[in-house]
Amino acid sequence: MASDGSRSRRRLRGVFRIAQFSDLHCGETYFEASLLERAISEINELRPDIVVCSGDLTTFGFRHEYLLAREYVDRLDCEALVVVPGNHDSRNVGYVHFEEMFGERNSVLRKGPVSIVAVDSSEPDLDHGQIGRGRYRWIEEQFAAEPAELKVFVLHHHLLPVPGTGRERNIVHDAGDAIETLQRSGVRLVLSGHKHVPYVWRLEDLFVVNAGTVSSLRLRGNTRPCYNIIEIADGRVDIWRRHPFHGQERLVSFSLDTLEYAKFTGAIEDEVTART
Ligand SMILES: [Fe+2]
Ligand SMILES: [Fe+2]
Repeated sequence: MASDGSRSRRRLRGVFRIAQFSDLHCGETYFEASLLERAISEINELRPDIVVCSGDLTTFGFRHEYLLAREYVDRLDCEALVVVPGNHDSRNVGYVHFEEMFGERNSVLRKGPVSIVAVDSSEPDLDHGQIGRGRYRWIEEQFAAEPAELKVFVLHHHLLPVPGTGRERNIVHDAGDAIETLQRSGVRLVLSGHKHVPYVWRLEDLFVVNAGTVSSLRLRGNTRPCYNIIEIADGRVDIWRRHPFHGQERLVSFSLDTLEYAKFTGAIEDEVTART
């Protein structure tokens, strides 16, 4: 466990930025290249320290879809890249192409104040996902290996039911055990995708953040394509939902010391909730 002194030494003077984009869905009819191109140029302008892609790069896991996704990801001006496959990427044994073009399906990245552990929660040809008890210890060990101001866990599926999405479906099967593992590991932030609806919750000491789709027009209700920017500065974390071409709004702001927070999800609720 880090002392307060070493924690404050690790604090950065400037803003440390993580860009999270998700559910590109290259190859599908509803894929909109202009949205992805614009999002990538906006992300590059922000010069993020880390870029996270939380899965569903493709639609059927086909090789040509992966080639297209890789082409886009290569346009990112960021060396520190974390990518996990989604359920669509594991269709048709697509994880073979994932490994060839994006590397390990489970990975660890440590940079600046952040430790990220990312896992493949997909199951071949199934829409639901799981972490699996065989990986709980590995996850804990990775987070315990080095202290970090902000410990981040990345997966494609969500750990909590997302509003407006058929709430009971497609949570990882072992969400309860996985959440306990993350709590024990001191994780503060979970980044996921999958349901194309952005949202954020605070659950105990965890902030669980779901990204929308960045470039698919398979949208729910009045949600729009978007991606997330996570900013860490002076012991605070601010998370923004950004719409390619169309500005941004804050999703949540929290203190790393006290976990005091404010969230601003009213707009999302209006987009996916019936009024009567
Ligand atoms: Fe998706
Ligand atoms: Fe998905």
